[in-house]
Amino acid sequence: MNKKIKVLFVCLGNICRSPSAEAIFRGYVEKKGFGKIFEIDSAGTSGYHQGEPADARMRRHASKRGYKLTSLSRKFEPDTDFDHFDMIVAMDRDNLHDLKQMARSKEDEKKLYLMTDFSTEFDYNYVPDPYYGGDQGFELVIDLLEDASSGLFSHLKP
Ligand code: 4NP
Repeated sequence: MNKKIKVLFVCLGNICRSPSAEAIFRGYVEKKGFGKIFEIDSAGTSGYHQGEPADARMRRHASKRGYKLTSLSRKFEPDTDFDHFDMIVAMDRDNLHDLKQMARSKEDEKKLYLMTDFSTEFDYNYVPDPYYGGDQGFELVIDLLEDASSGLFSHLKP
């Protein structure tokens, strides 16, 4: 049996960007018929919203494009997540910086990526935090994540 490809998406609160990345990337790989070979999850560098569902505004915007955000917020756990996942994909540079600080070894650091590294159409070098903004910010998050999900899938060539 083939080993699963395990991908963890990480943002600050795990209620806007990373739960969306989780649902959008899962939708993409399922559409391509590769759902069974991936394990996909998300987490936050903070525990501010631990146990909460995704932000209602994010869920509403995602649902308009056919994505159901079902995950509950959890905090990134260095001692288990660095061992378990093959790729840990941060939404912005602060998230990436915080993850680097938590890395226990060079091997851990090698698992870290920035989601926009996989963008193909958009020229953003991070996924902006939509939490304190309006509708456009949530729409942009989904645009960037849809684009980078296809790029990430191509990068992995499962
Ligand atoms: P996320 O957005 O990191 O995309 O989940 C945020 C959610 C909550 C907060 C900041 C960003 N907050 O400050 O509570």
